[in-house]
Order: sequence, then C-alpha cells, then structure tokens
Amino acid sequence: MCGIVGYIGTKQAYPILIKGLKRLEYRGYDSAGVALISNNRHLNVYKAKGKVSDLEGFAAEKDISGTVGIAHTRWATHGEPSRANAHPHYSSSENLALIHNGIIENYATLKEKLQSKGYQFKSSTDTEVLVQLIDYIMVTNKLDLLSAVQLALQEVIGAYAIAVLEKNNPDQIVAARKSSPLVVGIGEDEFFLASDATPIVEYTDKVVYLDDEEIAIICRGEELKVVDFRNVEMNPEIREVKLNLGQLEKGGFPHFMLKEIFEQPDCIYDCMRGRINVDADNVVLSAVIDYKEKLLGARRFIIVACGTSWHAALIGKHLIESFCRIPVEVEYASEFRYRDPVIDEQDVVIAISQSGETADTLAAIELARSRGAFIYGICNSVGSSIPRATHTGSYIHVGPEIGVASTKAFTGQVTVLAMLALTLAKEKQSLPREEFLEIVKELSHIPEKMKKVLELNHRIAGLSQIFTYAHNFIYLGRGYSYPVALEGALKLKEISYIHAEGYPAAEMKHGPIALIDAEMPVVVIATHNGLYEKVLSNIQEIKARQGRVIALVTEGDNVISGIADYCIELPATLECLDPLITTVPLQMLAYHIAVCKGKDVDQPRNLAKSVTVE
Ligand code: AGP
Ligand code: GLU
Repeated sequence: MCGIVGYIGTKQAYPILIKGLKRLEYRGYDSAGVALISNNRHLNVYKAKGKVSDLEGFAAEKDISGTVGIAHTRWATHGEPSRANAHPHYSSSENLALIHNGIIENYATLKEKLQSKGYQFKSSTDTEVLVQLIDYIMVTNKLDLLSAVQLALQEVIGAYAIAVLEKNNPDQIVAARKSSPLVVGIGEDEFFLASDATPIVEYTDKVVYLDDEEIAIICRGEELKVVDFRNVEMNPEIREVKLNLGQLEKGGFPHFMLKEIFEQPDCIYDCMRGRINVDADNVVLSAVIDYKEKLLGARRFIIVACGTSWHAALIGKHLIESFCRIPVEVEYASEFRYRDPVIDEQDVVIAISQSGETADTLAAIELARSRGAFIYGICNSVGSSIPRATHTGSYIHVGPEIGVASTKAFTGQVTVLAMLALTLAKEKQSLPREEFLEIVKELSHIPEKMKKVLELNHRIAGLSQIFTYAHNFIYLGRGYSYPVALEGALKLKEISYIHAEGYPAAEMKHGPIALIDAEMPVVVIATHNGLYEKVLSNIQEIKARQGRVIALVTEGDNVISGIADYCIELPATLECLDPLITTVPLQMLAYHIAVCKGKDVDQPRNLAKSVTVE
C-alpha cells in the first residue's frame, strides 16, 4: 500500500525517483508526489492526483534538478485523493518535506495542540500533522532534524514508514519505520530508500531492512547510520537481494496478472524444487523437520490470513486435518487480533501472507506470540516483516507478484500447505504409505497439468465476452472446492467490479437460490470427486430455475455437459490437489471479463497490493 522512494548520491534524483515510483505502482495508489532539493538549494515539492505519469506531466516545466529527493504514491486513509492531500507535505516554514506510509492514530489530538501554537494546515491528512510536529519540536527546542524526529515519534501512536528532507541540509535524508516496511539500498557513493526492494534492485543488491522503531540517517558520502528512537546505535545487517529485473517486467504479456497466471506451472515447480523427491518418495519442508516436536505436539493449529491468503488457509485446514488429524481453525487476522482469542503455548499459529507486510496479519502474529504460541509463516516476499516476526516458516518462492489480484501466490501457498501437511503426516505416520506416495507423485505432476489448463485461455477469453452483461455472479463448490469458489468470486469482484458471491454449493438452497433467474451466471466447480453426485444435483436445481451454468468438469465428463450451459474440461487430479487445477480457469475467467469491460486489471480501483494499514 502506497510507495516510498528516496535517493541521495551523485546522479540526478528525479528520474530515479520517478522510475522507482513506477516500480511500486503495483501496490495501488491514488496520487503521487516528489520533493527535491534543487541545485540552487530550493526544497521543491510537486504533486498530482492520479498516476505517476500525471505527476510527470505536472513537473515537466518545473525545476527538477537535484541529487537528493524523496517521492511517494499515496493510498488515501485521511482525506480524499487530491493534490493538496498528496505527499510530500511541507512544514509551515517549508523547511521540511515529509512522506509517509501508514496512519497516525492520534493525529487529531496532535493537530489541536499544534493549531493552538499557531500552526495552520493545508491538507486533511494525518501526515501533515507529523511534519508540523517535527518542525515545532525542531524550532522550539533548537534541535537538529534527527533529534526532532526521535522526539516526535515518541509522541506518535500509529503505523508509519516516513522519510524527511530538510532544505538547509541537502546532504541527508532521515527515514524511520514502525509497522510499515522500509528498505535502504546501499550503492557506490549513493543510497536508495524504498518500501520494498523492487525500485532498488537495478542499482544495487545490498540492502538493509529497517526494523520497527529504527531511524536511518542517510548521509551523502558517509556510512549508513541506524539508531532507535532513543538514539541507541543499531548494527544494521546488510543483506543481498536476488531479484531478477526481468521478473519485474511484463515479458510480452499485456498485463502482469496474465503473465503471473501463465507463470504458475514454473512457479509451482520452483516452489517444490528441493522439497519433493518423487524418486525417493519423499517431501521435506525443512522448517517442519526442524520444529517437528513443536508442531506435532500442538493442541491445534490456527491459521491467520487475509483475502486470498485466507482462502488458501481454508484449503490448508482441509489438507492438515485430513492428512495429519490435527485440528485446525482458520481466522481472518483482522478478527483474531481484536477477539481476545483463547491461545497459549500449546497452539501453533500459521500466518499466510504473499506480501509479508499485511498489517492485520502482523498484528495477529504479535498477539499470538505474546500469548506464547509458536508461529510458522508462509510468505512470498523474502525479507519482509512477517517472516521476520515468526519463529520459522517456508517461503513459497513464486517470485514477485505485481498484479494487485493475487494469482500465483495463491497456488504457491496451497502447494506449500500441501507439502507442510505431507511432511507432518510422514513424521506422524498418519497417512497410509500408498496414499502418501500417490499424493506426492500427483503433486509433482501438477505443473504439467496446469500447462494443459492454460491451453484453455483462448476458449475462456471467448466465453468471457458472453458474460460482460452480468451485474452479479455466483460461484459454488463443495469440500476442497468451496474455498476455490470464494477465490474465483473474489478475483472477479476485484478486477471487473462485478458483484460475485462464493458459496458452499449445498448452502445455495438456504438463501442464494432466490437470486437465480435466466440472467444469473453460476460458476460451479463440479470436477470428479467424492461429492460429485451432490454437486450434480445442485446444478439441476440451478437449471430448474433457468440459471446460466458454467461448470468446471473433469475431462471426459459427459453427464454435466448435457446439463450445464458451458463446460470447461480440466485434467483429472486427486481431490485434495484439485484446487491447484480448478483455480486457474477462474483466474482466467475473471481476467478476461475485466479486460472485455476495459478495466485496469493490474491496478484495480481502491485496492492496494500490500495492505499495510488496518
Ligand atoms: C488478493 O487478490 C487481494 N488483493 C487481497 O485479498 C490479498 O490477498 C490480501 O490483502 C492479503 O495479502 P497478503 O497475502 O499479502 O497478506
Ligand atoms: N495516512 C496517510 C494519508 O492519508 C498516508 C496514506 C498512505 O499510506 O499512502 O495521507
């Protein structure tokens, strides 16, 4: 959510900042801005509502010189998206400019206090309060910027990543974080600052991930210095990032989302690499082996996540309960964190997150940790906050996911959950050996089966054109397919803005059936599995009310093809692995409907890729 970029060095900052903002566009935003200390020592701030390209248009005729600057893409939380509310925000004296990701919870009290001291505000943001507070502390106590930031942050309640420029000191950027990500890139005679490593990797592979309550003092020509809010010097760990630039480009696809849908066979292969050995009939997730006593000794597992990751969690529950016979609960992280849950050291919490930065999931982890639970993370973004907040975990290794609508991360999460359940089942000997071997073998065949599903892209694109008229969709599935129905509906909602509901198929008759008429498209996941006959009856019920059924069926099914309006035939697989196959056509369906409707598929309105505010 929102993006921060900063640069200080020997080159002109503006082009680097703009390129960096574009690399962060996937996170979702509504306005953009940049602050530069120009060659003649002015602190210039330029802002625009809309896209980074609108900012470029606005700044085209302005002085964009300077070798130090900060830039921002805003996702409004306080105040509408507008030029006035966009960041950077000046202090009243225009001596400081600040960018901020997150929320200042106590901004109203602070604002009142500052107003009583004569400060005036030009925006409705919480952020402007912070820059004025720093200015106030600097002026009244005659302090330098770092000391003022330290004192100000001790007064602030909230979540933030900030960067501040001071007109009188063009050789320094001060940056700090609490519960929002911030990374410093270390180059030759230059430093970069960003919300994640994507804007940095083309310049340097050396980065420092700031921890909570840390402040980076980034000075031209000096070593990076990191201190905490009370000025205790920290020892920042310089890490190497291995992001391939090609992974951040669209690679010939019209959208990142389609590229990421098509990457799935390779991603799943990469995710399993070194973890599955079919010849040796084995699956090993090293973190599970390392902590097997803790995991096998658990009273129950609780999986916390949000959005798509929560749907993966529902599949994880099925997998772990049926393979390992360990009770599993699945909770929305946002509910869990405020529910005062009954949890202690006998519980294991699995936190699932693509970005590794989701504020609610992080808070749920912190709560569970404080009650003594053991925390296992399943994340994609290497080095992000969640993996650092957990006791152990497994990366899904599907590469950067840029499209706001999650696709390959979901199938990666399900794959890791399947491997986790299998590794535990083997340790616990809770699955008959033949069944274990059959699942391992079939899991290794999933990438090639996914490739077959992707061959249906053209057909699904054609089918999508029929349904652009729809204002509502229903998605139905049972057992392992119920979370897939939820995920299919979420994908459609997110990018096409068509209202869609996912339901357990049998629940339909308890209410949603009232919605069915000849206009209503109903997507039914009806592949061959234990509940096939029951789903067949559900399809009959829909057809009896003239609903338009799009059925996902197993290749060779000639029963449903005689009843449903449209059938999408998919390769057969085991019931427990079916979500890895059935999710893919639903991703493609949502994608093509959104494209037909002319929507911004990669950056849908109102959505952010990493939801770093609650
Ligand atoms: C997925 O398409 C969504 N954009 C969203 O629901 C997402 O899954 C959710 O915000 C959780 O994100 P995370 O996996 O990065 O924690
Ligand atoms: N709360 C700030 C605002 O509304 C920052 C939002 C963001 O993270 O982009 O301006």
